[in-house]
Amino acid sequence: MSDRINILADQRIVLGVTGSIAAFKAADLASKLVQAGAVVDVIMTEAAQKFITPLTFQAVTGRPVYTDLWKSDSSDNLPTHIAHVGLAEGANLLVIAPATAHHIAKIAYGLADDLLSITALAVTCPVLVAPAMDGHMYEHSATTENIQRLRGRGILIVEPEMGRMASGMVGRGRLPEVPILLGMIRHALGREWGPLTDRRVVVTAGGTHEAIDPVRYISNHSSGKQGYAVAQAALDAGAAVTLITTPTGLPQPVGAKLIAVESASEMLDAVLEQVDGADALIMAAAVADFRPVESADQKIKKKTKGLTLELERTEDILETVGKRRLETGDPRVLVGFAAETQDLLRNAKTKLEKKNADFIVANDVSQMGAGFAIDTNIVTILGADGSVVSLPQQTKTAVAEAIIQRVAARLQTVPRRHEVSDEDESSVL
Ligand code: CTP
Repeated sequence: MSDRINILADQRIVLGVTGSIAAFKAADLASKLVQAGAVVDVIMTEAAQKFITPLTFQAVTGRPVYTDLWKSDSSDNLPTHIAHVGLAEGANLLVIAPATAHHIAKIAYGLADDLLSITALAVTCPVLVAPAMDGHMYEHSATTENIQRLRGRGILIVEPEMGRMASGMVGRGRLPEVPILLGMIRHALGREWGPLTDRRVVVTAGGTHEAIDPVRYISNHSSGKQGYAVAQAALDAGAAVTLITTPTGLPQPVGAKLIAVESASEMLDAVLEQVDGADALIMAAAVADFRPVESADQKIKKKTKGLTLELERTEDILETVGKRRLETGDPRVLVGFAAETQDLLRNAKTKLEKKNADFIVANDVSQMGAGFAIDTNIVTILGADGSVVSLPQQTKTAVAEAIIQRVAARLQTVPRRHEVSDEDESSVL
């Protein structure tokens, strides 16, 4: 199935829907989760059923929808016939979206007088709560204190967005759109079960811009797609991810800390700052090898007949980090790319050695189905241990997952030196 998302496939997700106009977004969320391969059991409160019917959720999930604390049915395919125990047992994640102020208060105080609140007490899996309400209700100290209580218990909160509310007022209280909710669900699952939980991964993406004057620059064909896919794969694996990126226009991977840069020299500064204490650096960016010696302060006017640009070499970021880590040990795993148009393996092997990387992901960008701006890639991964693995043409997502698997395996063999600080964790949520 093309919409399948590995981190979501075969996960049992209990989706609690409470009484908010945003309940319609929960139907789309349930549908997207099912398309991604998840098994979704929906619990609706009485108030939720005033906005949307159980039949809608039943139709998109293909499973019974639970509305009644007092109704048990052994034919429902749950581990036990007592609904709240059956729903809680074996659940990989409880998502409450949208969550009203009332339901947040119930969960904050452990009240259990309906099927959703009682299931929230019975689950042992992670819980994700997405508040949705009027802006003043969200800002009320009762609500903020309740949300603080949930956070204190390790419950993840999806920050509501600023915007127009159903009332016509503008405030913070809107349920974020489905891609953000999906991203947070991936983040919650990755953090709990991924092979990179508590690891810090830095990824670079996009082609750098080397300024000629304030309106012109030299760049390359990189779209940033492969780097963003690597960042998403690292998030799915549970890592705290920093994505250092040039402007790409791609949606930000939910949960990643983003650092925006333009030139090779800005990217170098950001990488050197972030790599300290990092578990892995994956240099997927297409860094310019040359930049104008001088960048004009004002726009260069076309009245001159011709223009000759003098270029100078940029710093090689990967090589700089590769050398430094011989002394510092950071990052523990270093991955580079090699974009080639000829002699793929020979050139990639030279880069692997020269840049002191653990892996080089080599691709022949002149091949059909590989390279810039498209959704697939054909790569060979060379390891410092002499391994050479050629992967068939596949999506950039699949390539990214293959890279992250190798990073996780390599990290198992390199002694651990740093722990993720609380600050890193909180900055992504
Ligand atoms: N790279 C880098 N800094 C540069 C140039 C490249 O960090 N100034 C990194 C890229 O992010 C990539 C790897 O080095 O991970 C290889 O980049 P590539 O463009 O394939 O090769 P170059 O080292 O630039 O060598 P050449 O242009 O001679 O192929």
